Amino acid sequence: MTDTTSTGADFVVAANRLPVDLERLPDGTQQWKSSPGGLVAALEPFLRSRRGAWVGWPGVPDVEVEPITDGDMTLHPVPLSSAELTDYYEGFANATLWPLYHDVVAPPMFHRHWWNAYVKINVRFAAATAKVASEGATVWVQDYQLQLVPQMLRGLRPDLRIGFFLHIPFPPVELFMQLPWRAELVHGLLGADLVGFQLPGGAQNFLILARRLTGMLATKSAVGMGTKPGQVTTGDRTVRVGAFPISIDSTALDKCARSRPIRQRAAEIRKELGNPATIVLGVDRLDYTKGIDVRLRALGELYAENRISAHDVVMVQLATPSRERVEHYRRMRNHIEQAVSRINGEFGRVGHPTVHYLHQSMPRNELTALFVAADVMLVTPVRDGMNLVAKEYVACRHDLSGTLVLSEFAGAAAELTSAFLVNPHDLDGIKNAIEAAITADPAEGRRRMRALRRQVMTHDVQRWARSFLDALGAS
Ligand code: ADP
Ligand code: F6P
Repeated sequence: MTDTTSTGADFVVAANRLPVDLERLPDGTQQWKSSPGGLVAALEPFLRSRRGAWVGWPGVPDVEVEPITDGDMTLHPVPLSSAELTDYYEGFANATLWPLYHDVVAPPMFHRHWWNAYVKINVRFAAATAKVASEGATVWVQDYQLQLVPQMLRGLRPDLRIGFFLHIPFPPVELFMQLPWRAELVHGLLGADLVGFQLPGGAQNFLILARRLTGMLATKSAVGMGTKPGQVTTGDRTVRVGAFPISIDSTALDKCARSRPIRQRAAEIRKELGNPATIVLGVDRLDYTKGIDVRLRALGELYAENRISAHDVVMVQLATPSRERVEHYRRMRNHIEQAVSRINGEFGRVGHPTVHYLHQSMPRNELTALFVAADVMLVTPVRDGMNLVAKEYVACRHDLSGTLVLSEFAGAAAELTSAFLVNPHDLDGIKNAIEAAITADPAEGRRRMRALRRQVMTHDVQRWARSFLDALGAS
C-alpha cells in the first residue's frame, strides 16, 4: 500500500470498518490485515472492480491515519477514540442494535449516552463521506452502525445519489418498537434514495415502520426481490425499499477450490486430522447468534448415544475473535470453550481430539482448503442476515460431494432450500439432520449439492451489487 490522497470519487462505500484493520505488533510496528466479517468479504472484490473509495474505521482506536491507495481502491480512515469505541461500537451498535435486530436472543441494552455517541459518530462518517464524494457521486452506506448517515449526508450533499444496505436482519415491528430512538433511525434511513434489506420480510417490516413512525405515505407496500421494490414518499422525494440477498464471488472461489495447491492442502488437512471418515466443519465469527453452542451440544449427544463414532467423525470449529469486550460475547466464548473441552474430555484420545477448536482468523487459502476437505458443513445460527459461509462452502464443492446443514433462521435458507434445513431451537431436529448429512446416500447428496450450486454460482456478489445499483439508478 502507498500513502496517497485522493479526492472526488464517483463511487463511495461508507462502512463502519475499512476492509483492512491496522494491527499493532508487540515490537511497536504496525501492519494491515484483512478485516473480519461478511460485509468486507462481499464488498471488497466488488469495490476493487469499481475503483471506488471506501470510508471506514481502521480497526484500532486512537489513531489518525492518512488516506491510503490500495490497488484500485482508496481508503479513507475515520478515527474513533477508545471512549467512542466503547459507546458507539461496543455499546449502541453491538449491545443495543445487534441483539435487538437478531430477535433479542440476548437482551438489548438501552443507554442514552450510547445513543449520543452513535449520533456523534454518524455525523463524523457523514462529514467524511461528503468530503470524499465528487459532485453527483453515488454513495453506498452499509449496515446498522451507520443508519443515520443517509439523512445526514443528504443534508450536507443534496447532489448525491445515496443507497443504504442492511447486512443483518431487520426486526419485526414489535421488537423494533422497543427502541427509544426508533423514529430517529427510520428518519435516518429515509435519507437514502434506496434502502435495501437481505430478505423481503425485512423490507416489509421497514415499510410498516416508516408508515407508522413518520406518518409518511407508503404508496406501494408490495416488496419484490430486487427488481420490484416498494416505496415510501417523503415530501417531494420517493424512497425505494427492497430485498437484495447478498452473495459471494462464487466464480473466484470455485476456481480457487479447484486449484491443485488447495486440493493438496485439503488432502493434507485430512491426514493431519488422522484420516477420519467424516470431517464436520463450522466457520463463524465467535458470535452468540451463530449457534455454535447448539451444534456442539448436538454433536456431543450424538457421540454419547453412539449414533456417530468419535473415531470416524471429527469436527473442526473455527471461531474468529469478535467484539471481545462486549459482555455477551465474553460469556458465550467461555460457554463454547467449556463445551469443546467437555466433548474432547469424554470422547477424545491422546493425539486425537474429536473437536479441533481454533479461536483465530485463517488465511483465505487455508479456509478454502478446509471447505474442500470438509464432508459436512454446519451452519446453525439462531438468526443471521444472510450467512456467507454457507454459500462459500457450496462454491467450493465442484465435485458435488459434501452436505450442508443449514438453519432456517439464516437468510441463506431462503435460497439454499436443498440443504438439510434445521430449526436451531430443536435439538433433536439438529441431531437428526447432522446424522442424515453424515450418512446421506452419495446420489442424494449430489442431487442436493447440484441444486445448491445452481443457485450460488448464478447469484453471485456481482449480480447482487448490479441489482442494487440498477435499482438505485447508479450502475
Ligand atoms: P458475519 O458477517 O456475521 O461475520 P458471514 O458468514 O456472512 O457472517 O461472513 C463471515 C465471513 O468471514 C465469511 O467470508 C467467512 O469465510 C469469514 N470467516 C469466518 N470465520 C473465519 C476465520 N476463522 N478465518 C477467516 N475467515 C473467516
Ligand atoms: O454484517 C455484520 C457485521 O457486523 C458487519 O457490519 C461487520 O463488518 C462484520 O459483521 C464483522 O463485525 P465487526 O465489524 O463488529 O467485527
